[in-house]
Amino acid sequence: MGIRIRGRRLMRNSNILQVSEVKSIDEQLGDLPKGLSFFDPILRHEAKEAIEAGGEVYVYRSTEGHKNGLFIYDGYEATGTIFTKSREAFDHFYSLKPSSYIFSEYEVAENPKEDWNIWQLDVDKAPLNHRFKHHVSIESDVGELERFMAASQPETNRQWVKVALRNGDKCFVVRIANRIVSIAWMTIVGGVARSHGLYVEPQFRRMGIMSDNLQARIIYLKSRHVHTLINEIPGSNIASAGHAANAGEKIVGKIFLYASPDTKSL
Ligand SMILES: CC(C)(COP(=O)(O)OP(=O)(O)OC[C@H]1O[C@@H](n2cnc3c(N)ncnc32)[C@H](O)[C@@H]1OP(=O)(O)O)[C@@H](O)C(=O)NCCC(=O)NCCS
Repeated sequence: MGIRIRGRRLMRNSNILQVSEVKSIDEQLGDLPKGLSFFDPILRHEAKEAIEAGGEVYVYRSTEGHKNGLFIYDGYEATGTIFTKSREAFDHFYSLKPSSYIFSEYEVAENPKEDWNIWQLDVDKAPLNHRFKHHVSIESDVGELERFMAASQPETNRQWVKVALRNGDKCFVVRIANRIVSIAWMTIVGGVARSHGLYVEPQFRRMGIMSDNLQARIIYLKSRHVHTLINEIPGSNIASAGHAANAGEKIVGKIFLYASPDTKSL
C-alpha cells in the first residue's frame, strides 16, 4: 500500500498546526512519543486494526512539529479514542467527529461524560488454583464470531472481527450445548495484553463462566510471558467491576467517554 497523507493546515494564534490523516501504519505513522497514553504499548496495533477495518487515524503535531495527539475513529461505530495530553489536540479531534462517542484519558470538566476505570491485573501474581466449571477455548471461526458479535454486541463494526483475528487477537469462548454463550477478546503486544468485549448471555450469568474465561486467559498469558492485563470498565457497571475486583484486578487509571455534540448544536 502506498503512502498517503492528507494534511490540513490550521491557523491559530498565528501558529501553523498540522493534522495528518494516516493511511498506512507501517510506512507512515513513524514512532509515537512515549507518554501519550496509558495505552502506549498497544497504540500502533489499535491504529493498524482500525485502518484495516475501514476506520480513520489522525496525528496531531505541535507548532514545534512534535506528535502530541493520536485519534483513532471508527465511522461504523461512530466511536473513537483521542490519545493526547494537549487540550488543543483534544479540542480539534473532538470537534472533528460530531454525534459520536469519544473516549479519552484527557479530562475536560465542562464536557458531558461518563467515567470509566482502567483495571489492571498483575499476571505473574495471579494464582493458578482456580477450579474450572466450564470448558474455555480459543475460537477462530470468523463466521461464527461475526454472528455472535452481531447478535450480542451489534454496535461493533462487523469488519473488525476478521481484521482482529488476522492481527493475532485472541477470542476466548465458552460454549453450552455447542453454542457460544460467552466471549472475551484479547489483544497482546509484547508484555501487555488488553481484554475487551467481555460478554455472557444473560441466562448464563453468575455461574462462574467469565471467571473461567478469565482464568483461561491468565494461563495463556503466563505461557506467553505476558505480565500485565488491562481492561476498561464503566464506573456504573457493577457486575463487570465486581468480576474484575473478584479476580484481583486493581484500578490504575481513568478514561472518560464523551458524547460529541451534534453538528446542529456546534
Ligand atoms: C460482567 C459479566 C461478563 C460477568 O460474567 P459472569 O459469567 O456472570 O461472571 P461470574 O459468574 O464469573 O462472576 C464472577 C464474580 O464477579 C462478580 N459479579 C458478577 N456479576 C455480578 C453482579 N451482577 N453484581 C455484582 N457482582 C457480580 C461476583 O464477585 C462474582 O463472583 P460470585 O458469583 O462468586 O459472587 C456479565 O455480567 C456480562 O456479560 N454483562 C454484560 C456485558 C458487560 O457488562 N460486559 C463488560 C463490559 S466492561
